[in-house]
Amino acid sequence: MKPREIRKNVYLVGAVDWDRRLFDALIPLPQGTSYNAYVVVGEKKTALIDSVEPSHLSELQAQLAELPAPDYIVSQHGEQDHSGSIALLAEKYPQATVVTNEKCKAELIDHVLVPEDRFQVVADGDSLDLGGKTLTFAFTPWVHWPETMCTWLPEDKLLFTCDFFGSHLATSDVYADEATAYSGAKRYYAEIMMPFAAQVAKDVEKVAQFPIETICPSHGPLFGRPAFIMDLYREWAGGAPRNVVTLAYVSMHYTTRLMADHLTAALAQRGVAVERFELTGADIGDLASSLVDAATVLVGTPTVLTGPHPAAGYAALLMNTLKPKARQIGVFGSFGWAGKAPEKLAELLPNFKGELLAPVMVKGMPKAEGYAALDALAASIAERHQGLASR
Ligand code: FEO
Repeated sequence: MKPREIRKNVYLVGAVDWDRRLFDALIPLPQGTSYNAYVVVGEKKTALIDSVEPSHLSELQAQLAELPAPDYIVSQHGEQDHSGSIALLAEKYPQATVVTNEKCKAELIDHVLVPEDRFQVVADGDSLDLGGKTLTFAFTPWVHWPETMCTWLPEDKLLFTCDFFGSHLATSDVYADEATAYSGAKRYYAEIMMPFAAQVAKDVEKVAQFPIETICPSHGPLFGRPAFIMDLYREWAGGAPRNVVTLAYVSMHYTTRLMADHLTAALAQRGVAVERFELTGADIGDLASSLVDAATVLVGTPTVLTGPHPAAGYAALLMNTLKPKARQIGVFGSFGWAGKAPEKLAELLPNFKGELLAPVMVKGMPKAEGYAALDALAASIAERHQGLASR
């Protein structure tokens, strides 16, 4: 891509990573991603905001060659997909100063080997005058690391947000199409932001002080109507859970799947929406996305030796890490002769502060008594969901 001018003398640069399918060796990227950077050209100085994953540095360098050389390289976040190229850029542009906050400076020295003598450290609310363009820094911790900050350009009413309000989406479009942006933005929120929901809600209100016309994240498209994404974040981070069960299960010999089928029908019959994931094939981004709204999570597992199937254990670990707003978690499944799958799954959820529902475990195939217990579980969930909005 060539530099794209989004306001007079403000350019979208960076790289679209169409083919990447996994991020952090963890997060599936079914739609690829992008590493957006921005160049702001003032009358006196030029600033580059963020950089790109080092494997895409040549694309950024070709774009920068068409623009005035940067006097400042602003780093809003120390993670390598945005800052991994900064040491090389600092070498290429020896006149440039790396502008960031104290915490990010330490990260850039430790993680990407930026020399200590290249920094200008800014505080929350500080401004950098480029000549007719001003960059004001607003610290927004935990979107996604403790050092993350946004940059406000008042002359153009642009807010640069790095991971905040991002989407893993490779697209040739500059601006988000609201009709299709929802699922990618929600999935990204679930994977990156949900563990810090309380702080995320505060950060949204902090940047809401600016009269923003366009949100410019460093992944995915820009938002030309900021209220669209900001209101979604308010709902995801601070809203009540919805009348939804996330049902994640794995089955070895049909029995746990039969129980999942029975529960799905029993919940649906009682007006509870079920979002269902078979854990050996599920996309964990879809599972994470479901956890944004669900009031209840159910994990179905057979017993492997004395504990849960490892796929169910992985799902529990994921939930523990993502800290969803679910109020209840329940376990169901089967065993051959004995076992402690529910107890061992509970041990994997130390961050969960809600209610652990009484597990329903059956020996071998579910029988009348087991189905009755599943009906009772569905009824108790429907009762707990009374008054919750549907999704
Ligand atoms: Fe896109 Fe936290 O890096």
